[in-house]
Amino acid sequence: QLFIYKEKNRPQFHFTTKRGWINDPNGLIFYEGEYHLFYQHNPYEREWENMSWGHAVSKDMIHWEELPTALSPDQTGTMFSGSTVIDYNNTAGFNKGNTPAMVATYTAFTDEKQVQCVAYSLDKGRTWTKYDKNPIIDSKAKWNSVDTRDPRVFWYKPGKHWVMVLNERDGHSIYNSANLKDWTFQSHTTGFWECPDLFELPIDGDRNKTKWVMYGASNTYMTGTFDGKKFIPESGKHYYVTGSIYAAQTFTNIPESDGRRIQIGWGRIGHPDMPFNGMMLLPTELKLKTTKDGLRLVSEPVKEASQLFESTGEWNNLNAKDANEKLKTFNNTDRIRIKTKLKLSHATSAGLSLYGQKILDYDMNFNLVNGVFYSPEDMTSMEISADIYIDRTSIEVFIDGGAYSYSMERKLDAKNTDGFQFWGNNIEIKDLKVYSVKSIWQ
Ligand code: FRU
Repeated sequence: QLFIYKEKNRPQFHFTTKRGWINDPNGLIFYEGEYHLFYQHNPYEREWENMSWGHAVSKDMIHWEELPTALSPDQTGTMFSGSTVIDYNNTAGFNKGNTPAMVATYTAFTDEKQVQCVAYSLDKGRTWTKYDKNPIIDSKAKWNSVDTRDPRVFWYKPGKHWVMVLNERDGHSIYNSANLKDWTFQSHTTGFWECPDLFELPIDGDRNKTKWVMYGASNTYMTGTFDGKKFIPESGKHYYVTGSIYAAQTFTNIPESDGRRIQIGWGRIGHPDMPFNGMMLLPTELKLKTTKDGLRLVSEPVKEASQLFESTGEWNNLNAKDANEKLKTFNNTDRIRIKTKLKLSHATSAGLSLYGQKILDYDMNFNLVNGVFYSPEDMTSMEISADIYIDRTSIEVFIDGGAYSYSMERKLDAKNTDGFQFWGNNIEIKDLKVYSVKSIWQ
């Protein structure tokens, strides 16, 4: 184990698997002091194949311990994405004595069809028993569509029943169940693809005022209402995070006293020449905020991440040349966090690059950040802030407190000698903070 996490291109503060391929996070759940991260996994090779559920646990969502594979392919198919719940009331009858079952609902995939199945664990997700009457939903039943997958199950408290959101055909369907086994179709929302999520969030932190958020694998979302049976959108489709992220999912069973809605997304970042491939992005907390454009999701790394960072420099009111001078000593670091706020003097482009790669590229004329439309809350300030996390193979950037965020592969261009470079017409670097980052593997 000591040598496994020492590879040259091993991300240092993001979850990666020891060996093999990963994609979607699955079954994110908090239970008895542990955060569980299951994930689409090929335990044998670096390519997408042999889909299984990998498994890791953590006390803080930052340091992970990888456990043996949770679900392996069987005669119903390979193990595609899904979710987990704790069946406190023993509705499915899987509980043993006082131990409630952790129940996973997942898709079994074959070339002909995709069917929904359940499995349960009585030892905190360590070992699993598949239900002997699987599948619980045979595909094609409702829409005659092949693409029926990624069940997202949660307990709907007001109605005292289970809800499943399922990717079907051209969007997400809602099913209801009393026992996690028998499901009845309720409604369908078009316009989404793969990996549904649906959850309630307080508006501006007020738990008495809430809206529901529905999203799919691209993280585009709608806000609206939900009565346990039907999601009614009240907004158009919006985005708040783009780039390498895909198939994000939020944790279930986080205690109400905590109350956070925390998400982990798959980082589609290649790791050439490594025994592993892909990574998970930083866990982020999602909030609903009233903005000048209406209700919007914002996301920022969870507070647990702060243990990773140690401030190594802080400056204010610099011009680009002086700021570049300050960053020089960090040009060759493999990981770093940089928090900065720029003030533009013209409505043209400004930003920060690293060896020619544009980490931040703010075009005030076209209202674009790294090519994606972004309209700051206060256009008159001419300012933009960025919280930047660089980790060997990836870069994650949170703009203006997470109003918009994005991620990308870190490009190592051996020919470029520029290092960190702020650019822009007479820009002022109002804040510049640099943090060293601890490795999670020691
Ligand atoms: C999304 C996805 C899911 C599917 C899984 C298979 O990335 O295509 O829809 O369940 O990956 O690995």
